[in-house]
Amino acid sequence: MFAFTKKEGSAALAFLIAGSVWFVVGTLYGLLSAITLVAPEIFNNIPELVFSRMRPIHVNTVLFGFVTTTLMGAGLHYTPALLKTRLWSERLAWAGFLFWNAAILSGPLTFSFGISQGREYAEYIWIFDVCIMIALILMAIDLTMTILRRTEKTLYVSVWYFTMTFFWTIGFYPIGNVMWHPATGSLNGLLDSLLLWSYGHNLPGLLLTPLSLGAAYFVLPRVTKAPIYSHTLSLYAFWTLVALYSHIGGHHILQAPIPNWLKVMSVVDSFIMVIPVFAVLFNLWLSARGRGGALLADPAGRFIIGGTVFYLLTCIQGPVQSLPSVQQVTHFTNWTIGHSHLAVLGFVAFMATGALWHVLPLITGRRLYSAALVHLQFSLMAFGVVGFLIVLTIAGLVQGHSWETGTAVVRVLPELAPYMAMRAAIGVSVLVASFIGFYNLIMTIKKGQPIGESAIMESSGGVTP
Ligand code: HEM
Ligand code: HEM
Repeated sequence: MFAFTKKEGSAALAFLIAGSVWFVVGTLYGLLSAITLVAPEIFNNIPELVFSRMRPIHVNTVLFGFVTTTLMGAGLHYTPALLKTRLWSERLAWAGFLFWNAAILSGPLTFSFGISQGREYAEYIWIFDVCIMIALILMAIDLTMTILRRTEKTLYVSVWYFTMTFFWTIGFYPIGNVMWHPATGSLNGLLDSLLLWSYGHNLPGLLLTPLSLGAAYFVLPRVTKAPIYSHTLSLYAFWTLVALYSHIGGHHILQAPIPNWLKVMSVVDSFIMVIPVFAVLFNLWLSARGRGGALLADPAGRFIIGGTVFYLLTCIQGPVQSLPSVQQVTHFTNWTIGHSHLAVLGFVAFMATGALWHVLPLITGRRLYSAALVHLQFSLMAFGVVGFLIVLTIAGLVQGHSWETGTAVVRVLPELAPYMAMRAAIGVSVLVASFIGFYNLIMTIKKGQPIGESAIMESSGGVTP
């Protein structure tokens, strides 16, 4: 059966293809959601197309479907390559693929009909939470066994990030989704908020961030053909990320009556987060010093360097907006939506797309069908992120100002209309980018020029830790 083929790299390729499909689907729902914020009755109130149902489809599909699935595909290639061994079980990875993607598919299929657990980032109903957990456990087993059977002694930092992501997520996913209450997936009151936002925070911090950084640490030295600047610094950043990011989720609910010590710790450690962030950025940038031209000329390298810039911006904006005095204005406004897109569409999606274009030729043995299309996709996505950030930040400040001055909502909404229209218009460029990516992926698989066995062998284990 095709789905359980043992062919080396087949599961990784399946994850990459699925990630590109989810990019199209998730972004389409983002655009449709944005259009309803411009013209609320445009879809004639068809229940499946109301904002409240499309929004979670958009968010879950881009987050778990597009970026996470793509980064999993990349990791399934680079982990065995870095360990100079084969993946322990291709079939286990395929099983993980099926459970994982069943859950992502459940988003459009259930949320469209109002079947949802209704908590942000935790909307999947219980049975699909179970699918996610099974997928994560299968991946964790497969990676652990691959590590145990490795022939390369040193564990390069990408292996740390990629493998540990599954263990952390196995820990925080069931707690955040309150999986011991299958019917509702929730508790009551403040306790529920605490669990949800510990989870909602760790999702970007301990799932998306390590997957993205693992990929960046793999692709960047390979494109520049130079070893990583400091292995020690990379592991230092790894441990400080876990130590700091894991407990600052309180900064999402500073307006709620959570304990004061939790608020203080969340805000202070949000600032101390500059340690892991800059440790990573300096390490990557120093590894690329003197080779910036080669990096920017390479289709994947350009995405990775773009991702580091968006990571920097995200992590400057993050601590600032964790200050209660700033959040008093920005919380509950489009400012936060601007931050989300800068982070997930800017930082994470750029790393995922860079990883995709780097590992695809290594897995398929074929050159990219069109480097020009990758560069076009880069420009469209970069335009989208920067455009979203500017428009949504201004819209957020308009909203924040109205909170402060007590302006009635009916007066504020018309003021937001032009920004909502601009966001939808800019979104078209991201949707086009997703289609271009999918086309280029399929054409590479079908029509890409063969690279030759020796080049693939050489490129599969070339990262010097
Ligand atoms: C130093 C690092 C960071 C800090 C201190 C930080 C801080 C914050 C704060 C305070 C909020 C809540 C804003 C509000 O509700 O008013 C927030 C929201 C968010 N952040 Fe970050 N952030 C950081 C990095 C990141 C990264 C790397 C990602 C993605 C990988 C990310 C993704 C998000 C998302 C998706 C939200 C929206 C959550 C929601 O739905 O309300 N952040 N961040
Ligand atoms: C056509 C392009 C896109 C458009 C028009 C768009 C639009 C939207 C809209 C309207 C929302 C809901 C905002 C609200 O509740 O006020 C949203 C949320 C979100 N989108 Fe997108 N989006 C697009 C692409 C993407 C992509 C590609 C990603 C990630 C790779 C992404 C990540 C997110 C996230 C994480 C949220 C949740 C924000 C939060 O709750 O803080 N979006 N988007």
